[in-house]
Amino acid sequence: MTKTTFQGHLDDLRTIVEPALRSALSRADWPESLGLAAEYSLMAGGKRLRPVLVLLANEVCGGSAQAAIPAAVAIEMIHTYSLIHDDLPSMDDDDFRRGRPTSHKVFGEALAVLAGDCLLTSAFEVVASAPLPHGQIAELVRILALAAGGGGMVGGQVLDLEAERGSFLRAENSALLSEMTANTGCDLKKTTVAEQAVLPGATAKIRSPGSPNSDFVTIDSNRTAETRVVELTRIHKMKTGALIAGALELGAICASADSESRNQLRQYGHCIGLAFQIADDLLDVTGEQTKLGKKPGRDVDLGKLTFPGLLGIDESRKKAEHLIQEACRAVEVFGDRSRWLKDLARFIVERDH
Ligand code: IPE
Ligand code: IPE
Ligand code: MG
Ligand code: MG
Ligand code: MG
Repeated sequence: MTKTTFQGHLDDLRTIVEPALRSALSRADWPESLGLAAEYSLMAGGKRLRPVLVLLANEVCGGSAQAAIPAAVAIEMIHTYSLIHDDLPSMDDDDFRRGRPTSHKVFGEALAVLAGDCLLTSAFEVVASAPLPHGQIAELVRILALAAGGGGMVGGQVLDLEAERGSFLRAENSALLSEMTANTGCDLKKTTVAEQAVLPGATAKIRSPGSPNSDFVTIDSNRTAETRVVELTRIHKMKTGALIAGALELGAICASADSESRNQLRQYGHCIGLAFQIADDLLDVTGEQTKLGKKPGRDVDLGKLTFPGLLGIDESRKKAEHLIQEACRAVEVFGDRSRWLKDLARFIVERDH
């Protein structure tokens, strides 16, 4: 019998994803420890939101699930790598993830970093082996790389840490870089890069050695709340929204969707992506560890820039709600077929995990 509830459809899609993830790990050529570490994080569960989005976008554009499975697997591998690295002591320093001790707690930092690297690179191998024409595969690779890279997730993670700690470019390093470029004749204008890292109206100073986060430049800010909301929106769109919007675009590409469908799905993805991270920030304040599978309260501990921190809980909820409405409008073009995408958008803000 066909299941018709949203939860039933979600379960069906996850049932497609789980064995495909497992088979991506069946690799005899990896060292045993690497395989175990990659499996430990990838097969620990999680909501599987990104692969589900690939499959839903593919479905709404009339594609066959079979053609979209490699892209679904690849994006979950990249997402899982981002979580392993996000939890490292040098980043968010978290001990629990997906209901388990974090990768570095079990395997040590070196193997955790390498398991993340392995998931990232293998994701491209998986997508390159999709049963699709070469042109479509090249487009999948391009979108995946854009979503995961410096203008997407990785760039957003850098900005997230800089918002917490100040610029990674220390004044003395910046001077050294200028000197090096002057000696080599390169005109990279490194001082400008350093200046860009410090937002207008802010003044940088070096913390004294031995003080917390002494590796980082702190920023004394006189930025307005409005400027900080703009800054945080950019961070969230990059660190989380890019992969989510990328997932939808991957699904559309697998289905050979026309450019209008692809644009509408990307637009939907940007809205739910931002709403998803706002919900994550809210759950860090209001959620329970047993449901989340990770420890709440970490954002305050770390001094993260978050929506509840800037706007409060109620305003953050309203913002997420508006984004969901905008997302639903973006997929109206698909008529009745947009039903699951609309249900999923709602799930993103109503979830407790
Ligand atoms: C957590 O992502 C990291 C963020 C981008 C907020 P998820 O909440 O999707 O984590 P899993 O995949 O369900 O574990
Ligand atoms: C992480 O955001 C986004 C990633 C790119 C992994 P968070 O740092 O808020 O995610 P959690 O709360 O640790 O899952
Ligand atoms: Mg983080
Ligand atoms: Mg984190
Ligand atoms: Mg979080």
